[in-house]
Amino acid sequence: MKPGFPIPDQHAIKAELKPLTRPLLRQLTVLATIDSTNRFLARLPSSEQHGHAVLADHQTAGQGRRGRNWHSPAGSNIYLSLGWAFAGQSTDLARLPLAVAVCIARALKIAGVENPGIKWPNDLQIEGRKVAGTLLELKTGRQSGAIAVIGIGVNVSMPAGMDTDAAIRQEWTDLGSHVPKPFTGNLRDRFCGLLLGELLAGLEQFAADGFDSFKADWLSWDVLKGRSVSVVSQNERYSGKAAGISRQGGLLLVLETEHGGSETMEFFAGDVSVRS
Ligand code: BTN
Repeated sequence: MKPGFPIPDQHAIKAELKPLTRPLLRQLTVLATIDSTNRFLARLPSSEQHGHAVLADHQTAGQGRRGRNWHSPAGSNIYLSLGWAFAGQSTDLARLPLAVAVCIARALKIAGVENPGIKWPNDLQIEGRKVAGTLLELKTGRQSGAIAVIGIGVNVSMPAGMDTDAAIRQEWTDLGSHVPKPFTGNLRDRFCGLLLGELLAGLEQFAADGFDSFKADWLSWDVLKGRSVSVVSQNERYSGKAAGISRQGGLLLVLETEHGGSETMEFFAGDVSVRS
């Protein structure tokens, strides 16, 4: 059995933040157990959400994308949510999940992961296995802009075994299996601080320059590009070659037509799997 991490340490996490990003973090709440850090943050008054990061050691009802559960055992992983307000009406918010994936990939790279990968739209992979995922929930006011609850789960030191495989139901890995040995100390606290720093800096970059300033990084980490994939969207299965993302952040899929031609489709939602 791997030893579990102690409850996250606020000071150790904040110590990883750079002087420029540190003031962007208004509040850091550390919880031993909660249903879901996204739900905790969403229940707060909106005046307490912006710049507020909530971190839990354990979630009893962790939420994944598309209504799935997020396996959240104690002492093992990062369950983090950050609230962020965006002024005015911005059409770019649809591409915020892709920018967040770039922030996570940047943090993985700094931690020493050589080849982090992004699987559209925002799954993080190492060697083809999922290491992190993002659940982003937006509340848009009529005039007053939007507030995002950005939930990130990172597998750091997952207790291995049949129960874990059954709960996750997809190929997974954890950060602890991939960082070089010199990254010592409490890996969960250190990576959490690093991730928060990249996220805070990235959110400033997104507000100022939009997703276009992240696109080259996103494409450089795209694990689907050129691969034969299937997309299940609205109960239909489409098979073709992944061809990056559109201007709006949709997945581009090139399908062969009956007469030997090709047609490109754009998807904004769906489950993607690589065909062997
Ligand atoms: C996915 O399905 O890939 C998204 C997983 C997001 C999980 C995180 S853990 C912290 C936050 N709280 C939740 O309940 N979900 C997100």
